[in-house]
Amino acid sequence: MAKRQSSTSRRAVKKAAVNTVAIIGAQWGDEGKGKIVDLLSREADIIARFQGGNNAGHTVVVGGEQVILHLVPSGALHPGKTCVIGNGVVIDPGVLLDEIEALRSRGYLQGEDPLRVSERAHVIMPYHRAIDLAREKRRGAGKIGTTGRGIGPAYEDKMARVGIRVVDLMDESVLRERLAQTLEDKNSYLRTVQGEKTFDLQEVFEQYRAFGEKLRPYVSDTSHFIDDAISRGQRVLFEGAQGTMLDIDHGTYPYVTSSTTMAAGVAAGSGIAPQRIREVIGISKAYTTRVGGGPFPTELNDEVGEKLRRDGAEYGATTGRPRRCGWFDAVVVREAARLDGLTGLAVTKLDVLRGLPRIRLCVGYKLDGAPLDHPPPTVAAWDRVEPVYEEMDGWPEDISAARRLTDLPRAARSYVARLSELTGVPLAFVSVGASREATIVVNDPFG
Ligand code: IMP
Repeated sequence: MAKRQSSTSRRAVKKAAVNTVAIIGAQWGDEGKGKIVDLLSREADIIARFQGGNNAGHTVVVGGEQVILHLVPSGALHPGKTCVIGNGVVIDPGVLLDEIEALRSRGYLQGEDPLRVSERAHVIMPYHRAIDLAREKRRGAGKIGTTGRGIGPAYEDKMARVGIRVVDLMDESVLRERLAQTLEDKNSYLRTVQGEKTFDLQEVFEQYRAFGEKLRPYVSDTSHFIDDAISRGQRVLFEGAQGTMLDIDHGTYPYVTSSTTMAAGVAAGSGIAPQRIREVIGISKAYTTRVGGGPFPTELNDEVGEKLRRDGAEYGATTGRPRRCGWFDAVVVREAARLDGLTGLAVTKLDVLRGLPRIRLCVGYKLDGAPLDHPPPTVAAWDRVEPVYEEMDGWPEDISAARRLTDLPRAARSYVARLSELTGVPLAFVSVGASREATIVVNDPFG
């Protein structure tokens, strides 16, 4: 008896102590992370982005009004919180300043300390955007389908040690020197290799110096800020962008983004130790989508795919491109569960499946006739992968009013239970509509 009591109280203590939660996309991005971040932000003190840039687009519906955020964490929609843009993010300062202004004019980002931007974050320069677009144009049919925001070229410069960081914008002489060093190279590449327009040193310098001045009030050492906050017991929510299958190392390379999108990126991209991350919630749609090129074994190029696109409003929040749609792929989400160490699963857009008489789920792959239970390393192999499907009953009912699992029709309940079983991750949330309220909270990671 005494033994049982002590293990129960240990569990209670552990639960109460959770003050860091990471939200990670378990598919190819656009899983509905913004909505779950928005929900959990109510309980958090700090909401931090740690990778990616304005390639992300988080759509949140607040009071019937749609708000799309590209750089500022979705937590900005709650008063009294501090949003952090961490060192691992690449920042287009023009886009960030516009977003700050748009949010402020709608009454957001008004608190005492609403936004902090890491001094170590790298800056997206106009030549990064130009190079991104020029390369995609030349790739033709083999294009990656990037968002054209200069993300890849900015990360390339970071790794090549020729990037310009936010802290460099704070010092005119450093900015001029760094820019002079790199611009000659970029102009020569743009002119001779890509046949594109070049950039004027003075013009870029003036523009970015001015950006630096406007950003100055927000710029600080965010690594220590977050770490100290965690030590004080404050609650920190880490907001991932894109998804695990777009990870630079473990995604469907080269059809990936240029950052570490998986949970391991939280530590490096916000400047904290990995042990600091307590709970990792993987976000997955009840089906699958991806934008841009690359492998997608369960893609549906038929009327079911059309239905998912139409009913799920599957158009990119950043580029407006129609998303490719397909069945749920347990191989992908299981891999995310392993790579990210998922402790909870949020299944989003369950309502979109309504009306399908039968629903298919991919439970495994076959590669050249042999079973394969995890993603292969090359696009050539991905292209030969055949999904192995299981079928379940659909449901005709509108489920958008469900607030508990028991409110769901039996078929929908069985479906989400099967997703949890196939991926080995316990359910944390089930989203049944776009609004904040249309959510079943199965297990709140903050307790
Ligand atoms: P980049 O990040 O713009 O370089 O694009 C590389 C790939 O990642 C492309 O296939 C994009 O469509 C995809 N991608 C980038 N950001 C997002 C996102 O926020 N959601 C979904 N896909 C994304």
